[in-house]
Amino acid sequence: MTPDPAHIATASDGPPGGAVAGAGCARHYRVAPGGTLAGEMRVPGDKSISHRAIMLGALADGETIVTGFLEGADSLATLAAFRRMGVEIEGPRAGRVCIRGVGRDGLQAPSAPLDVGNAGTAMRLLCGLLAGQPFASTLVGDASLSRRPMRRVTEPLARMGADIETSAAGTAPLSIRAVLRLHGIDYAMPVASAQVKSCLLLAGLYADGETCVSEPAVTRDHTERMLATFDYPVRRAGHRVCISGGARLRAAPVEVPADISSAAFFLVGASIADAADISLPAVGINPTRIGVLNILEAMGADISVTHRRQCGAEPVADLRVRSAPLRGIEIPAAQVPLAIDEFPALFVAAACADGETLLRGAEELRVKESDRIAVMAAGLAQLGVDAEVLPDGIRIQGRGRAPLSGGSVDSHGDHRIAMAFAMAALRADAPLLVRDCANVDTSFPGFAALAAGAGLRIAEATE
Ligand code: S3P
Repeated sequence: MTPDPAHIATASDGPPGGAVAGAGCARHYRVAPGGTLAGEMRVPGDKSISHRAIMLGALADGETIVTGFLEGADSLATLAAFRRMGVEIEGPRAGRVCIRGVGRDGLQAPSAPLDVGNAGTAMRLLCGLLAGQPFASTLVGDASLSRRPMRRVTEPLARMGADIETSAAGTAPLSIRAVLRLHGIDYAMPVASAQVKSCLLLAGLYADGETCVSEPAVTRDHTERMLATFDYPVRRAGHRVCISGGARLRAAPVEVPADISSAAFFLVGASIADAADISLPAVGINPTRIGVLNILEAMGADISVTHRRQCGAEPVADLRVRSAPLRGIEIPAAQVPLAIDEFPALFVAAACADGETLLRGAEELRVKESDRIAVMAAGLAQLGVDAEVLPDGIRIQGRGRAPLSGGSVDSHGDHRIAMAFAMAALRADAPLLVRDCANVDTSFPGFAALAAGAGLRIAEATE
């Protein structure tokens, strides 16, 4: 089936008939079996790039115009934090944001703690940026973020001379005291984390000498690319990136591609549904983010990648996905950091594949917005899927053509788990209730409406 070009749905289209969006109450998805996915869909802007555009735009000299900005709660929290530090920001309006940069040394002390909600990227990157400021600040987050490990950033920052207090458990709130100077360090990260790398590079803007970070495996490189776009020198060689403090950033336009992490739900949904055929235009295909494409292709998915082009510093392409029988695979270790946010969706693909899928070396999944290994395994069990939890991964026995059962699964407030299970309903033989979905707004506002417009039988309900 060829997508109808006249029907181009976007995530900002209104809610589907009968859907009720709730404010301040628990939100769930009710998904009926028998849906499919068809047509062209514009998924919202990349979350990682949206955060970074606000941060670097705020620190630049001059005015930065951002287009395609993700108007999700996470990136809006970053935007609000910079407003509270005296940065004038217009928008977002239809994804357009205008940031009047205050220059590297122009931030003002916030009058109260900066609350970044559910956003791990905001907290960890801001921690590095704030560590080098001549004022004190405090970062706080929601219950989920307040459980996530922060020593991975506060320890290397302390080596740079930062003075940051965490809870006894090494979690937020983070109280950052003003220090006279930071100094560059040469740091080998024990975990492959773009948030840690980016945190240290942002601290490095304010440090004497050179700050170098080596990563055990390649992680997303949006910070490095965007620093270069803002004319800030960054030296990269293999798994090592270095920056020297003291230079200035020059404002530059940022065009944010569609988020491959949001597209992932549709890549999986269209692969597992019957008679599906969807097109996803202008999706970011940065090589450090395309693990989901590589893994789905190895599983037998029918995905075409066309019209490859550059969107500022980032490569993008149009993706087309059609239904295909999937087979279980052993996921190559090198793909893990390249697909780190896409595993909830990939586990649903594995549940619908023929044979076993094995993931190892992914202990990081246990410290995301939820413990994504445990929460996904519990939900898959509800759907009749045999999933064995491993310390650093999961073993999933795919059901092949046998349907998943319906019932009720709990997302534990994790946006990506909620969306992954919504897609699982495409292969269920009874209605599925996905609980606790309000946090989908952190990364994919309008998800239910977009999916409903494409043929998923989803409605939102409040309680
Ligand atoms: C992100 C990096 C990843 C990812 C997160 C966004 C970023 O986290 O899971 O959603 O924007 O740098 P880690 O770097 O901690 O793996």
